Parts: sequence; C-alpha cells; structure tokens
Amino acid sequence: MTSAPTTRRSVTVRVPAKVNLELNVGPRRPDGYHEVSTVYMAVGLHDEVTVVPSDDWSVLVSGPYADRVPRDETNLALRAARALARQVGVDDRVSVLIHKEIPVAGGMAGGSADAAGALLACDHLWGLGLPRDDLLEMAGDLGSDIPFVLAGGIAVGSGRGERLAPVLARGTYHWVLAVSPTGLSTPAVYAECDRLRAAAGGAAVPAPEPTTAMMTALRSGDVEALGAALSNDLSEAALSLSPGLGEVLVAGLEYGAVGGLISGSGPTVAFLTDSPEAALDLCVSLTASGVAGEVRRAKGPVHGAQVVPGPSARG
Ligand code: C5P
Repeated sequence: MTSAPTTRRSVTVRVPAKVNLELNVGPRRPDGYHEVSTVYMAVGLHDEVTVVPSDDWSVLVSGPYADRVPRDETNLALRAARALARQVGVDDRVSVLIHKEIPVAGGMAGGSADAAGALLACDHLWGLGLPRDDLLEMAGDLGSDIPFVLAGGIAVGSGRGERLAPVLARGTYHWVLAVSPTGLSTPAVYAECDRLRAAAGGAAVPAPEPTTAMMTALRSGDVEALGAALSNDLSEAALSLSPGLGEVLVAGLEYGAVGGLISGSGPTVAFLTDSPEAALDLCVSLTASGVAGEVRRAKGPVHGAQVVPGPSARG
C-alpha cells in the first residue's frame, strides 16, 4: 500500500437523482437479481459528496434527509471509497461528508448517487485519473444504478441496470416529484413483484427489452408521447406494499400531469408536465391537496456526477 499523491485538501462532487422512464423487469436470475431493461433520466435534484483526508474512515450527513442515512460501514458511499482504495492500493483514509437532497429509499438512486460521488471524489483527491470505463465498472460492482448516476443524461440500462447504452433523445422535461415520508426497500419491492407474479400463475417472464413507444417518444422529444410511454413493472409491487401511492398518482394526473409513474422501486411518484409553469402549478395543487408528502420540482436530463470546481463547497 502506498500513500496517494494527494492533489487537494478536499474534493466535492455533485451527483443527480434518476427517474426510470420505463422499467421492464424480466426473470429473477440465479444470483437473486432481476434482468431489467430500463430507460434512466438524470434529474436536477442533487446530493453533494465531499471527501476529506482523515485518520480514519467516517461518514457525516447533512440536509433534509440526513437522519435516515446510515453512518456505519453499511453506508454505500463509504463502501465505495474503501473499495476504490483497496482496488488501487492506496492506504489513505477519508471522511465522507454527504449533503443529502435526494430522498432516501425513494426509488431515485439516492444511495447510489452518494456512492458515485465518493468514487469520483476519491479518484480526484488521490490523483488517480482512472479511465471512465474503469470507474463505471467499479460502480456497477457496487450497485446496479451507480454507473448511471455517474454518467447522467438519458441511457438504457440492461443486465441488472448497470450496463449502459446511449439513447437518441431530445428535449428538456419538467418533473414534479411526490416524495413519501417513508421509504420502500428495493429488495422488498422486487420480492413482492416475484410474489405477485407467482400468485398470478407464475407464467414465464420474457426477457425485458426497451419499448418502441419509449424510444420513439425520446427521439421526437414529444412530451405527450413520452407521458403516454412511461411504464414501470414494479408499480404493482410498490402499490401493494404502499397502497396510498395510488391516490397520489390519481391526484397528479387529475391536476394536469401529462403522465406519471412510480420511480424505480418507489415510493417517489414522478409526474411529467409540459412546461416549467405547469410544473409549478402541479406542485402547488399537489401540496395544497395534502395527498402527497413533500413535493419537489426537477428538470431533466442533467449531467451525471461532476467535480465542483474550486475549494469544496461544504464541510
Ligand atoms: O444493485 P443494488 O444494490 O441497487 O440492488 C439492491 C437490491 O435490489 C438487490 O439486492 C436485489 O434484491 C434488488 N435488485 C434486483 N434486480 C435488479 C436490481 C436490484 O432484484 N436488477
């Protein structure tokens, strides 16, 4: 093990959340994961991850969801930093400071964003300059959604979701996000999906693939077509575990959303609108109705993880 040529005292990385525009879930694999075909969009709700050289590994969390983030060795950002140090043979340690704006256990890749941030921040702090493909591969080993939040934009994910392919897409989209006060566990939602499939007769599940409707909508930049193409095979499972989400979905569509769906494994409900003004209106209506917990706006697509220039913003 060697000490890395530390180039800066601390490094901050900004990482976006994601919405799955479509999530097609195939069969459960022997390793317990499900084969998926998904279309990710990075949206403008960001966590900031700062790494600071330290005598020991630690995590500190600030922001609205701070109290729901683990600070022990199960923290995904800490695991990412340690895995990178191990892999490249660096024996330096860091404190990971997370400023959390992405809902926790919300189906928006919040934990994955922090892991992606820690990887990129440590890469810079330790002056590694790892090739992008190496970082993406490490990210995929750590979690299915981590490569995407590193990459950002819009992409198709296959395998567990970690294998990315570009998508021809145009347009900027305005989202309203209804965030639940309590989260859903991703493994529990996938398990519920299996249970519901078995209860319905256990018919063979076809290999998942992107739909033509989604690809056409993105290529044309047609917001109405995109709204109509939104789909999520985990919806039924998320609704089964959290039935109140149905009411949120109905309310958002009644208040004028162009489309809506549960994001990933939920419970965040993402509504698509056709303008920034419509997004603001929907935000106000949903908040006033009291049906949704917290309501946020975000536009997408946005960049993936990026180093914040200059001295670190927080810490
Ligand atoms: O990859 P990640 O750690 O985010 O996955 C969390 C859990 O979600 C997995 O342990 C698995 O139970 C479930 N999962 C799955 N199929 C996927 C992705 C996640 O079953 N494609």
